Amino acid sequence: MRLGIAQTEPVFGEWRRNLDDAFELMERDSADLWVLPEFFASGYQFVDAREVSRLAEPVPSGPTTQALVAFCRDHDCVAVGGLPEAAPSGLYNAAVLVGPEGYIASYRKIHLFGMETLFFLPGDRPFSTCDVGEACVGIMICFDHLFPEAARSLALLGADVIVHPANLVLPGVAQRTMEVRALENGVFAATANRVGSEARNGRELRYTGQSQIVGPDGDVLVRLSEDRPEIAVVEIDISRARDKAITSRNGKLADRRPHLYTLDPAA
Ligand code: ACM
Repeated sequence: MRLGIAQTEPVFGEWRRNLDDAFELMERDSADLWVLPEFFASGYQFVDAREVSRLAEPVPSGPTTQALVAFCRDHDCVAVGGLPEAAPSGLYNAAVLVGPEGYIASYRKIHLFGMETLFFLPGDRPFSTCDVGEACVGIMICFDHLFPEAARSLALLGADVIVHPANLVLPGVAQRTMEVRALENGVFAATANRVGSEARNGRELRYTGQSQIVGPDGDVLVRLSEDRPEIAVVEIDISRARDKAITSRNGKLADRRPHLYTLDPAA
């Protein structure tokens, strides 16, 4: 399977331009599964709730989901990308997974970062996975990387590939955590980050690029630049994610002792 990451440089609020830039990058190569950044069509640094409401859209009927479906239909591929979702229950930092036949699934970011907590509700649905061609795919968004339970939940649900739309601002942190998440769970992990900066409320956010695809041994298969919009496509062998053996007597998931783990000391 050909797994692609698109590292884009969105301009806040320039929806059409951001979509066209992303699609132009993705047309430079072919992939079975593309991963785009968090908020890749809207931009990230919202300054007030009215702005979020203006740019948020319903899933799956909204324009970003539908534009992605059209791209997938034209290029016979599957794609995941982040968007602000307007749902009856409120606004979410979401990602949609779509293919040539239409919408497949979405995820609402569970661990909100920084100012996101002012404008979005934390995700209200448990982690889940779905089958895309030969691969079982699980979605998490950006800051979820710092919570090992996120990737572990997806791995326990059978994920072969974790797709990770991101707008990372802490240099080098997620690149390291995602190497470990891939290694400890024996999965592929594809992080699509953005580049450039935004300073819409007087506080500059500098996005750190270095989008990457990591293999099930924590091996970095590709890592992009810190500052350029670009893509990478890697041919991956899904069977590597199904072999969880560490030694002949040890397995990455089989050796867990969950009855001795504390998830919530108050529970
Ligand atoms: C982040 O979660 N956008 C850092």
